[in-house]
Amino acid sequence: MSRYTASGLSFLLDGEEVPMAPGDTVLQAAHRVGRYIPHLCWHPGLPAHGSCRLCMVNFNGRPVSACTALAAPGAVVECQTPALQAERRTLLQMLFVEGNHFCPSCERSGNCLLQATAYQHEMAGPHFEEFYPGRPVDASHPDMLLDHNRCILCGLCVRASELLDGKSVFAIAGHGTRCHLVVDSPSGQLGDSALSVHDQAAGICPVGALMPKRVGFRDPIGQRRYDLHRVDEPHSQEAAPPADEETP
Ligand code: SF4
Ligand code: FES
Repeated sequence: MSRYTASGLSFLLDGEEVPMAPGDTVLQAAHRVGRYIPHLCWHPGLPAHGSCRLCMVNFNGRPVSACTALAAPGAVVECQTPALQAERRTLLQMLFVEGNHFCPSCERSGNCLLQATAYQHEMAGPHFEEFYPGRPVDASHPDMLLDHNRCILCGLCVRASELLDGKSVFAIAGHGTRCHLVVDSPSGQLGDSALSVHDQAAGICPVGALMPKRVGFRDPIGQRRYDLHRVDEPHSQEAAPPADEETP
């Protein structure tokens, strides 16, 4: 018996019981039993960031982010309500217009968590006026590409580089619309940094912002991650990695 079921503790998520251990966040406990809570900036192997707000749930009637809120025995948590789904759709639309996300021409299409989450929330269009920000593409690294146009500032590469690779190659700087990802290197360019294509940070980007070179479009349509798995399918994001996440 796992320590989660042995604890005898649980909370209700959309009316169904979810076992939990003391110290679990709502998202951790839900994810462990294959219950989907939308998320973009959360990863099971890293501390929560709490920045994308896609994981907002009602916790005993109060809105909280499921990736940072501690689960509590007996709590009543709502996730899939029409109001929360509509709020998430609005957040997704804002993310799409804030960057330059042109899915049909993006080599991450079909393997992108942002795109799959937008489909799952029936986002039919961007709704808001596009910003079309002018952002650079950093192709200076021999094995990796950093396209700032597609970065959603989830901070996953920042945390992975620091906590899993021990390198701190990335950081997030600036505020508001000037917020951006920065690279720790003498020139500020990726090619001048300590990043290796074998780093955990190199394979963690949920969108097409930080990607290995020479593997784009390798998965034919029909065989991409979210062609084969629904984003709300249990553990679909940890399914066999798409080819573009393998090392070249
Ligand atoms: S490059 Fe990717 S992983 Fe890093 S902050 Fe941007 S979207 Fe997140
Ligand atoms: S997944 Fe919780 S705020 Fe992003």
